[in-house]
Amino acid sequence: MRPQSTNTHLKLFIILILQTPFGITTTHYNSKAKTLTLPLKSQVISNGYLPRPPNKLRFHHNVSLTVSITVGTPPQNVSMVIDTGSELSWLHCNNTTTNQVTPHPFFSPTRSSSYSPIPCSSPTCTTRTRDFPIPASCDSNNLCHATLSYADASSSEGNLASETFGFGSSNSPNIVFGCMNSSFSSTTSDSDSNTTGLLGMNLGSLSLVSQLKIPKFSYCISGSDFSGVLLLGASNFSWVGSLNYTPLVQISTPLPYFDRSAYTVRLKGIKVSDKLLNLSDTFFVPDHTGAGQTMFDLGTQFTFLLGPVYNVLKGEFINQTNGTLRVLDDPNFVFQIAMDLCYQINGSGNFSGLPSVSLVFDGVEMRVSGEQLLYQVPGLVRGNDSVYCFTFGNSDLLGVESFIIGHHQQQNMWMEFDLVESRVGLAHAQCDLVGQRVLGLG
Ligand SMILES: *[C@@H]1O[C@H](CO)[C@@H](O)[C@H](O)[C@H]1NC(C)=O
Ligand SMILES: *[C@@H]1O[C@H](CO)[C@@H](O)[C@H](O)[C@H]1NC(C)=O
Ligand SMILES: *[C@@H]1O[C@H](CO)[C@@H](O)[C@H](O)[C@H]1NC(C)=O
Ligand SMILES: *[C@@H]1O[C@H](CO)[C@@H](O)[C@H](O)[C@H]1NC(C)=O
Ligand SMILES: *[C@@H]1O[C@H](CO)[C@@H](O)[C@H](O)[C@H]1NC(C)=O
Ligand SMILES: *[C@@H]1O[C@H](CO)[C@@H](O)[C@H](O)[C@H]1NC(C)=O
Ligand SMILES: *[C@@H]1O[C@H](CO)[C@@H](O)[C@H](O)[C@H]1NC(C)=O
Ligand SMILES: *[C@@H]1O[C@H](CO)[C@@H](O)[C@H](O)[C@H]1NC(C)=O
Ligand SMILES: *[C@@H]1O[C@H](CO)[C@@H](O)[C@H](O)[C@H]1NC(C)=O
Ligand SMILES: *[C@@H]1O[C@H](CO)[C@@H](O)[C@H](O)[C@H]1NC(C)=O
Ligand SMILES: *[C@@H]1O[C@H](CO)[C@@H](O)[C@H](O)[C@H]1NC(C)=O
Ligand SMILES: *[C@@H]1O[C@H](CO)[C@@H](O)[C@H](O)[C@H]1NC(C)=O
Repeated sequence: MRPQSTNTHLKLFIILILQTPFGITTTHYNSKAKTLTLPLKSQVISNGYLPRPPNKLRFHHNVSLTVSITVGTPPQNVSMVIDTGSELSWLHCNNTTTNQVTPHPFFSPTRSSSYSPIPCSSPTCTTRTRDFPIPASCDSNNLCHATLSYADASSSEGNLASETFGFGSSNSPNIVFGCMNSSFSSTTSDSDSNTTGLLGMNLGSLSLVSQLKIPKFSYCISGSDFSGVLLLGASNFSWVGSLNYTPLVQISTPLPYFDRSAYTVRLKGIKVSDKLLNLSDTFFVPDHTGAGQTMFDLGTQFTFLLGPVYNVLKGEFINQTNGTLRVLDDPNFVFQIAMDLCYQINGSGNFSGLPSVSLVFDGVEMRVSGEQLLYQVPGLVRGNDSVYCFTFGNSDLLGVESFIIGHHQQQNMWMEFDLVESRVGLAHAQCDLVGQRVLGLG
């Protein structure tokens, strides 16, 4: 069952909205290119707020990572969800509302002199939107018309347009985005939301990363205070130690279940503590339909594994926690559609003794441990106990054909996406401290 969308727009935490640009000169690509540094925060976004592509490859949960940037001339403050799993950036646009709250839930194009709608004769409209879940079309004014659809079957419509986006002190003109109508916001009673839109960061040609032509980007998400840092451009890793890399996997032939714009990597196995699960290699290799792809996705909260793999992991985790954790006494309970291993825990729980779960990639291991393994179901109690669920879920229950590594599992990990070398670098890090340091606060 799909969880109900809620009207609550609960902010979990706010951090330092200190737009300190952290300029590091990139020597290899362009000596003038600066690294842009933005504080990240995570917040609960109403379940129906973010669009869901109909290609079944992705599934959004409602804790999202956001950054504050500016759009337009003069600049309007907006808060954007970061999504490495989608291509088109979009803003909720509304020409009639006055901009009193800042950041505002709407962007007003009529108040911006740099707003420019894209005509549908433009190649941006005709060729670069072909792979969109819903390709762009032509509206009655001969402008490029875009449609986004949502999990609750509603949709929003708008125009592709170009605008000046401001990241810290740096402005990037002519960024293509979707200026969507705002009827959607009212249906979710999200009018108190400060989140104006989404930054699409996948490998597609209209994504922000592609448009800015940045050679790499990195982020570090804190596990303790819902903060973090996003760096666009090259960066200096002396504070996190050395990164280990795994290559990005690209395929030349389009396959129905393979998202070629995703950050795809090669998963080779899974360990619980030091025990490698007995899983044949064939489980991790995409089949002739593309099913079985492994991707990193900041637009998804938790991590989902294909059924056969998930079931083996679940069995081993139950075995290794037998005696320390009590499985929830309700076999029919499933958290967020796909997370069916839950525990009853008395008190606040001390998870430091749990067996770690490691995702083994070609070249690097990503270890998930401690409290990152269990997520407290909000508001649910059994007797004196709280209910916590294992943060890995079953893709099959979502109707998804891939392994998706969400942002919860990427906490306390320095993650670098190197688009030039086509690889992903990982290092375990304490992101609250790293974030303060990178943002120049520590
Ligand atoms: C979204 O957040 C609300 C408030 O915390 C919660 O009750 C609801 O279960 C969440 N839904 C999903 C799909 O996570
Ligand atoms: C945008 O935010 C900055 C920093 O918080 C603030 O100084 C500025 O006044 C805001 N601009 C508008 C138009 O609200
Ligand atoms: C926004 O788009 C939706 C989807 O087509 C449409 O139903 C709605 O009427 C539009 N709202 C406005 C205010 O134009
Ligand atoms: C707002 O106005 C701009 C410029 O007139 C127009 O291109 C755009 O479609 C309008 N957006 C909405 C959502 O009405
Ligand atoms: C703009 O916002 C107003 C007030 O919230 C709403 O009535 C109107 O339908 C919105 N317009 C569009 C084009 O979404
Ligand atoms: C929106 O932003 C303002 C100013 O930063 C803040 O006071 C307010 O609490 C925020 N609202 C929400 C729902 O996050
Ligand atoms: C990287 O950081 C270290 C220590 O923080 C500093 O000594 C070094 O100069 C920096 N390198 C670059 C290229 O900024
Ligand atoms: C691993 O699984 C295969 C197939 O399920 C089985 O034949 C084999 O005995 C298992 N190996 C171990 C060490 O459990
Ligand atoms: C769990 O452990 C028991 C006893 O050690 C073993 O018989 C069983 O096969 C294990 N289950 C799984 C799923 O590994
Ligand atoms: C847990 O341990 C008990 C006794 O130590 C055993 O009887 C039971 O089968 C174990 N359960 C699992 C799932 O391994
Ligand atoms: C659970 O916690 C409550 C209150 O903290 C305590 O009274 C109770 O004895 C605990 N139960 C168990 C089984 O530990
Ligand atoms: C949690 O348990 C570990 C041992 O499993 C212990 O070393 C640690 O002190 C405990 N932490 C707290 C806060 O109780």
